[in-house]
Amino acid sequence: MKNKSLISITDYSIEEIFEILDSAEEFEKNPVQNSLNGKVISTLFFEPSTRTRLSFESAINKLGGKIIGFTDASSSSVKKGESLKDTILTVANYSDLIVMRHPLEGSARYASEVSPVPVVNAGDGANQHPTQTLLDLYSIRKTQGTLDNLNVFMVGDLKYGRTVHSLLQAMSNFNPVFHFISHKKLRIPDEYKLFLNDRNIKYYEYEEFVNLEKADIIYMTRVQKERFADPIEYEKTKDVYILKNKMLDETKENLRILHPLPRVNEIQTDVDKNPKAYYFQQAKNGVYVRQAIITKILGI
Ligand code: CP
Repeated sequence: MKNKSLISITDYSIEEIFEILDSAEEFEKNPVQNSLNGKVISTLFFEPSTRTRLSFESAINKLGGKIIGFTDASSSSVKKGESLKDTILTVANYSDLIVMRHPLEGSARYASEVSPVPVVNAGDGANQHPTQTLLDLYSIRKTQGTLDNLNVFMVGDLKYGRTVHSLLQAMSNFNPVFHFISHKKLRIPDEYKLFLNDRNIKYYEYEEFVNLEKADIIYMTRVQKERFADPIEYEKTKDVYILKNKMLDETKENLRILHPLPRVNEIQTDVDKNPKAYYFQQAKNGVYVRQAIITKILGI
């Protein structure tokens, strides 16, 4: 992992995934350290973020590193027409590692190819969000005691949801059964079905909220207004799947509800008090997992 960019979750082997999760467990026990003393990390967010940016910044601060960057490309020289390549080459002069979120699929891979320092993909369009996936895996292992043989329900925007795409690929290492619940216009793309078929992973697709009694994990997602070219399509597909507290009555004791957040309407707020709701703890786990990712890449 040392000096390697993290662009797709498939960049990491199963052994490397476990190395990150084990390291994150140690950071959870002892999060405040000085191991990044003298290191500078850039956070370049060309798209809005609360959790990813702030948990990276929290992770860096807890490790004694320094952060530079922008939260809005309009405050950078991109506004004057600077290319992504020139931005990356410049920022690499000032930092040891670049964390980047960008709306274009493939932009993070491109940045890693031109950058002399490692790049971590903090989300590229509808493609990948590998650091979210690592914190999702950490949350699943922590709450289930295992990653193996779980019934994983994925609900909402399965077409454009980058967190869904990364998590599906990572969980496929652990013999899951997937249950995909979505509007027909937001189904899981064929390329991911082929990925599952190639690995003999079972999956079911539904247009209704069904079979929740089988679920070990329900991974809720937001229908993302910003990914729709046509606002009418967004209006038709939003608010179709709303998880309500009473729907959890007959579910397994070990069930946990995850959501990468932000939430809009897809989980009613009365679910928050249910012990099966885990999404805010999941977001907290992001700090430990990102501490693990940064230190592994910087070889600390
Ligand atoms: N989960 C996630 O990526 O959240 P943000 O968009 O707030 O970073």
